[in-house]
Parts: sequence; C-alpha cells; structure tokens
Amino acid sequence: MAWNKSLAQKLLFTFSPENAHSLAIAALKMGLIKDLPAINDPRLRVKLWDLDFPNPLGMAAGFDKNAEVPDALLRLGFGAAEVGTLTPLAQPGNPKPRMFRLAKDEAVINRLGFNNEGHAPALHRLEQRKGNGGIVGVNVGANKDSEDRSADYVKGIETFASLASYFTINISSPNTPGLRDLQAREALDDLLGRCMDKRNEVTASAGRSVPVLLKIAPDVTEFGLDDICAVAIARGVDGMIVSNTTLDRYDSLKDVAQKSETGGLSGKPLFEKATIALAKTRQRVGPDMPLVGVGGVHDGISAIEKIRAGANLVQFYSSLVYGGPGMVRQMLVQMADYLSKVEATSLEDIRGQTTADWAAKELTME
Ligand SMILES: Cc1cc2nc3c(=O)[nH]c(=O)nc-3n(C[C@H](O)[C@H](O)[C@H](O)COP(=O)(O)O)c2cc1C
Repeated sequence: MAWNKSLAQKLLFTFSPENAHSLAIAALKMGLIKDLPAINDPRLRVKLWDLDFPNPLGMAAGFDKNAEVPDALLRLGFGAAEVGTLTPLAQPGNPKPRMFRLAKDEAVINRLGFNNEGHAPALHRLEQRKGNGGIVGVNVGANKDSEDRSADYVKGIETFASLASYFTINISSPNTPGLRDLQAREALDDLLGRCMDKRNEVTASAGRSVPVLLKIAPDVTEFGLDDICAVAIARGVDGMIVSNTTLDRYDSLKDVAQKSETGGLSGKPLFEKATIALAKTRQRVGPDMPLVGVGGVHDGISAIEKIRAGANLVQFYSSLVYGGPGMVRQMLVQMADYLSKVEATSLEDIRGQTTADWAAKELTME
C-alpha cells in the first residue's frame, strides 16, 4: 500500500494515538506498507564499533517496544532499528489514555510507563530473525516494581547478548517513578559498573564487541551533565543517546488542550533543548565517543543539524506520526542533497560544525 500521506494520516488520526500505533505495527507486520527503494549513498554510511550503518537514521526506542517489526522498519529505509524498552517481566504500564498528539505542534506527550511484553517474547522474535542482517539495537530497562533495578538492566544485556547489535541503557524515561534518579552520580556509577562488567563478559562469549550506550534525559543541569559524562567516560560506555523526552512545557505550544497532560514531550518542540543537550554532551565527552542525536528531528535538514551539533548517528520517532513511512527515504534524499550542496564527501566532514554554537545556549528554556 503506498502511503497517501494526507489520506492515511486523516484515517489514522480518527483513532486514539495508541490504537493508531497498534494499527501501524499491524500494517508493518502484515507487509501492508510498501517497501521503498533503498537509498545507497556512500556519503551517508557510518562505521561505528564493528557496525556498518548504511545511513545514520535510526528508529528511536518506543515504537517497536516488543521487537515485532525491526525488519519492516529497516525496509522503510532506516539504517538501524532500536527495539524496546524491554523489561525482564511483562508489565502493563500506566492506565489509558497515556499517549497524546499535539498535532498543531507536531509533538507527542506520552506517559506509557514501559508497557511491554517482557524479555521472553522479544527474545523469541529476535531469535526468529537471526541471520537477517541489519542493525537492531535492544533498549533495556527496569520493571517498575523491581527491588534491584540495576540487576534488571544487567539481565537485559545477558539475555539479548547474542542478538543485539548494540544495547541502550535507558535511565531517562520520565514515566517510571524514580528511574531518572539513576542519573545521579553514585547510582549511575553503580549501574554502569555492573552493566559494563556484564558487557565485557558477553563480549568475550559472543566473540564480538557488544556496544553499550547510555540514553539520557534532556532535563539535566550543567552540573548533572558533568557528572553523567564523567561517569560514562570512567566506566567506558561505548556511546550516549541524547535525548529522551522532556518534562518541560513550552509557552509556545499551540495545542493547549493537550499540553497539560502529564508525561514526556517529544517531537518538533524538543529539537532545541535536545540539540543543546547533545552539543553540551559532545563538549564534555570529547570528539571520539559516539553520540546519537535524538529529539525533534523532522526532516533531512534537522537530521543534518544534529550531526553538525556533534552527533554520529540520529534517531527519531514522533515525526513519523506526522510524516508517515515515506519520510525516511525523503530525509535521506534531503541529507544527500545537502552534502552535495556543501561539497562534503562524508558526514564526518560536517560533524561538529555547530557544536560550540549549540553548547553556548542555555539548557533551561521558557
Ligand atoms: C510514544 C513514545 C514512546 C516512547 N517509548 C520509549 C521507550 O520505551 N524507551 C526509550 O528509550 N524511549 C522512548 N521514547 C522516546 C524516544 O525514543 C525519543 O527519545 C524521544 O521521543 C525524542 O525523539 P522524537 O522527538 O523524535 O520523538 C518514546 C517516545 C514516544 C513518543
């Protein structure tokens, strides 16, 4: 089925956001969304760790929470798909409604609260696709009622070690009470110490490096970010993802009916804050640590700007709700056109060009 953006969008928007999401997953599962011709532009390739990303655009966590459609996402043109957040045990998440469209702002608010089927079904699905190729990251988290949250993350790394292209340690969801406390220096040091020990163990047994990335919130202070980056470096994490959703509510938001909903805000209005956090992170970790820029990416140019601000890779989710599946390919074309215009031969040529400008801005806005 070709995606007639306005028609399909109108139809999907007659459903609640969560039902529309379930329909999108079902359509991808059934192959109802047409595969698009791949964009193979060597200038867009990224080699990081032992992985060859065909392009820097990844599906951010939260869309495919249960690892149902990673291959269908890769066929839309994504260079990587991140599944999860997965917790060891299934959990229902918060009561519905818990996901809201701010259509006028091209934004989303969610307070899903790590609803997922748990490790076992996702493990089974990822085992089924083993050998398909493509980069599939596994985002791991902790059960709400867990007595030892760090142990849940370690368990995630252990469980998916032979199947994950990389891991994301998600301590930045605002919807699990106390989760963001894991970003505090001592708690983070303990968590990352245990996760990296497990990473070293599974790297030895898997016979390949299994990168572990830390995903952080944009709602951090300068000092908080100092601590997070210092611990991440000291513990040798392989990269960072900046950022998750924000608890900020900007005066500029037009969708006043929805903006007071509790939860994390994502989409276009997050771009500024998440990009500032990304650039400030880049300045703290130096040029070599791989960073993934996420938050408010909505076209090829905003994806390019994440790279100019210091990202090696880019992810997005919310704008897919508004742009539809064809937008991945369109974005890649726009990115390639941009590289031609500035006569760049690779993304490395433009990476970090605006880090200093973004990092000079204040993290707290409005
Ligand atoms: C409905 C929804 C669910 C999400 N669930 C997760 C999740 O389970 N784990 C996670 O790390 N991030 C989750 N995110 C955050 C996204 O991965 C991303 O970091 C954030 O939305 C910012 O990117 P965007 O502006 O492109 O959406 C979720 C976002 C949305 C909108």
